[in-house]
Amino acid sequence: MSTQIVRPARTLQGSLTVPGDKSISHRYAMLAGLAEGTSRLANFSTGVDPHSSLACMEALGAKIVHNADKTIDVTGVAGAFRQPAAPLDCGNSGSTMRMLAGLIAPHPHTFTLIGDHSLTLRPMERIRNPLSQMGAKLDLIDGHAPMTIHGNPLHAIDFTTPIPSAQVKTAVLFAGLQAEGITSLSESIRTRDHSEHALKAFGATLTRTNQTLSIPGHQQLKAVDATIPGDISSAAFFLCAALLFPDANLVLDSLGMNPTRAALLDVIAALGGKIKVLTVEEHHGELIGSIQVNRAPISTSAPFTISGALTAQVIDELPVLAAIAPFTANGLIIRDAQELRIKESDRIALVAKNLTAMGATFTEHPDGLEIPGNQQLHGATIDSGSDHRIAMAFAIAALRATGDTEIDGAEAAAISFPEFFTSLDILAQR
Ligand code: S3P
Repeated sequence: MSTQIVRPARTLQGSLTVPGDKSISHRYAMLAGLAEGTSRLANFSTGVDPHSSLACMEALGAKIVHNADKTIDVTGVAGAFRQPAAPLDCGNSGSTMRMLAGLIAPHPHTFTLIGDHSLTLRPMERIRNPLSQMGAKLDLIDGHAPMTIHGNPLHAIDFTTPIPSAQVKTAVLFAGLQAEGITSLSESIRTRDHSEHALKAFGATLTRTNQTLSIPGHQQLKAVDATIPGDISSAAFFLCAALLFPDANLVLDSLGMNPTRAALLDVIAALGGKIKVLTVEEHHGELIGSIQVNRAPISTSAPFTISGALTAQVIDELPVLAAIAPFTANGLIIRDAQELRIKESDRIALVAKNLTAMGATFTEHPDGLEIPGNQQLHGATIDSGSDHRIAMAFAIAALRATGDTEIDGAEAAAISFPEFFTSLDILAQR
């Protein structure tokens, strides 16, 4: 386990291009692996998780070539995965295990999906339920991985997702793409729509009417060339850091600004960030832009509340928002976030533990946290719980604490953002 010492900073200044989006990278890896032909992927995530998806595709028969210019070529299996020689290792990645299950369940082989300790604790019933309605045969141990899939032909279903989950939605869409009939899927709370854009980019037919998506089965995908937008969930750490200093100035380039992810920018604005969109363009349905962030005075005196649909839209950014909440003018209330307890760690419990270590006052609820603003925190020893977002969230809080902070288990950052501590050193002015 590695430890990083983070010293307080004077301000945050500079420009940054964050690595390719983790969610989009997973989807492009998987769909390129299934497609016919060679896809060239630029700015693919450097995080360990999307590389777990790539490795699984290789084990399933896709050919992966890492080019000198950092692009990745994926030659797909043209609709026919092969029997892997060993279990498919999803590492720490819930996205890999859940979305891959839908992608491979219609193929006539036996697949075993395994993961690390954290992944083995995460609920998998949520994908077994719709996939078994489609005729898939999935074995779990007490609702958890290891997962064994006895592949066989699937049929379409009409499904309503019981919890807001883009991973469950994607598992159903990826299975529906290859099933008999037209699969339809409704979400009560809209989640990130990268799968919908990616499927269309690879040539699939997919329609949306109000809340319902429809996808006809037996479709063949065609390879694409694509550039993955920068990951807004990685950028979130520096957006939050910019809120900590009156004279902060941050420019983020090539940033993914998909509207189903960009609610974060509204939260940053509500907490005192001034965001200027410098450029924006569209690529395969995804918005990519450059933004400038400064701090602005806020006129309200009430804490900002994240609840309901907004909670689902910023679910991955909640740890860092909570970690910097004590430094905001009015504090932050987070509710309806019980899903946070079953992410890579119990993120509510770990945020609470680490806020306590830094001397913060707050209230913990089963589904969230209430954190008053205008507090002064001190440096402390932080337990990342081997969770990438916890390690990075408290490295940001450390910038405004008095004294140094020691992040134990800092290496977890590499799951989504291996360059994080280097970027932090460049942008944090001491
Ligand atoms: C993701 C969806 C979210 C998110 C995860 C990535 C995705 O999970 O927390 O980090 O890429 O679809 P759920 O779908 O479980 O909400």
